[in-house]
Amino acid sequence: MTNPVSICVIGSGYVGLVAAVCFAEIGHRVVCVDNDEARVRNLCEGRVPIFEDHLPELLARHLKRRVEFTTDLGQAVKGTEAIFIAVGTPQGDTGAADLSYVEAVVSEIALSISNYKVIVEKSTVPVYTNDWIRRVLRRHGVDPLSFDVVSNPEFLREGTAVVDFLHPDRIVIGASNERSANLMRRIYEPLTRGSYYTQPDALPGPCSTFNPARLLVTSTQSSEIIKHASNAFLALKISFINAVANLAEAVGADIVDIATGMGMDSRIGPGFLKAGLGYGGSCFPKDVAAFHWVAQQQGMDFQLLKEIRRINEAQKDVFFNKVLSALWTLRGKRLTALGLSFKGNTDDIRESPAIDIIKRLLEAGSAVTVYDPAAMERAREVLPASNKLRYAGDIYEASNDADAVLILTDWKEFAEIDLARLNLVVRFPIVIDGRNLYNPQKMLRHGFTYVSVGRPASYQSVESKPREAVL
Ligand code: NAD
Ligand code: UGA
Repeated sequence: MTNPVSICVIGSGYVGLVAAVCFAEIGHRVVCVDNDEARVRNLCEGRVPIFEDHLPELLARHLKRRVEFTTDLGQAVKGTEAIFIAVGTPQGDTGAADLSYVEAVVSEIALSISNYKVIVEKSTVPVYTNDWIRRVLRRHGVDPLSFDVVSNPEFLREGTAVVDFLHPDRIVIGASNERSANLMRRIYEPLTRGSYYTQPDALPGPCSTFNPARLLVTSTQSSEIIKHASNAFLALKISFINAVANLAEAVGADIVDIATGMGMDSRIGPGFLKAGLGYGGSCFPKDVAAFHWVAQQQGMDFQLLKEIRRINEAQKDVFFNKVLSALWTLRGKRLTALGLSFKGNTDDIRESPAIDIIKRLLEAGSAVTVYDPAAMERAREVLPASNKLRYAGDIYEASNDADAVLILTDWKEFAEIDLARLNLVVRFPIVIDGRNLYNPQKMLRHGFTYVSVGRPASYQSVESKPREAVL
């Protein structure tokens, strides 16, 4: 690359680590800072602390060449032109984002600015955070000519984060002057000009030299709102389809067909119309709440956002009631829960609907055996193993002698179960699928009673197995 930028990324979580490694991948020199010493130690030795496709390979490719890790924020900031803040912005008590991690980082950056830097908000933050960052820097006596603050929200999804980063639908930059906007343009140039996609070892994805990443430069306020509004809109699509799913179920219609039919309209689009357990994760729940708070600060009661959340919460009750109606009572039942993470292909359990459902089943007196391909280690911290909660090594071990199998996360592995084998190991062939991973007719043919979301349940006349299989 002809014009690399020296970049500091603060925070090595799902966003910071992916950004750091991907900036290295497109040719920049990166130093990534975290105040979690163990995490930094692991990263320095090439161990990736999160489950994310492609990340281990890319880290191995660039570690100690173009990307390094440290806990020393001051030193890292000194030698760099752009400083990306990618620390957490969790939900506070009022629904507003807790910006104390961002403020702590900004105060530390202030101590180390000696020449011009562009400070980049990568974390998801409410409108006007940009102004607050400027103000904090000024309060610490930093010369206003020695920095600019820009907004550059991140739209990656966990599980596909690396490909999303390198092949983005769009890159949004909120800047108040050309100097800082130009540095940001330079950083993303390999993606926006498409030179990255001609590299022989470039990660394949939807962008190419003919269809490079699109870049939008706008004001800082617009950029900040684009992020909140995008997440809120995606959450809206999910709540909308879940509400329609409940209606579909009431009238004997099929939500999968309905979503397909709606999604064929290019104005609606097929994405984010999967009915299920409701959205979870570290972002939609907190960002919908934070966006509501932002509107409230401007004297607006953005009721629609409240409704999105209400439907989302209610969706978990809907699923729990499905389990009840399929099993009659829960006390003493032996249930299998497939999935712990908030969606497939990630080990992240933050705000996971699966965890919520499992807690309710345990409270109702069931014994639950869980299995997840990647999230079991994290889950043990919030759901410790006990005589009522067991962790299993695979789907079939988890389903051994189960009164019913519940699918709670949309892992690919759960869509490819050997149904004959499953039928052999369970006590009763009942599958309650919160992610609509199977065709109901197929499940019926394999001898299962199958209950899913927004589709008529298919019941076997009696869910007994051949006597010799039970014994
Ligand atoms: P995370 O919790 O995975 O990572 C945050 C990291 O910041 C942690 O490793 C933590 O140790 C570190 N940190 C905290 N304070 C620090 C300090 N003072 N100095 C150095 N390091 C510090 O969070 P995340 O999921 O990566 O999210 C970060 C931000 O990005 C949030 O605002 C989130 O809303 C936004 N976002 C997240 C995603 C996602 O998919 N997770 C996608 C887009 C945007
Ligand atoms: C989401 C957005 O998709 C990203 O663009 C954004 O950058 C990120 O939040 C963020 O700001 O953190 P992520 O939370 O990783 O990404 O996961 P999604 O794929 O969006 O799924 C979120 C939740 O919605 C999951 O629980 C998922 O199971 C659920 N979902 C998603 C549905 O129930 N139905 C769908 O059709 C899609």
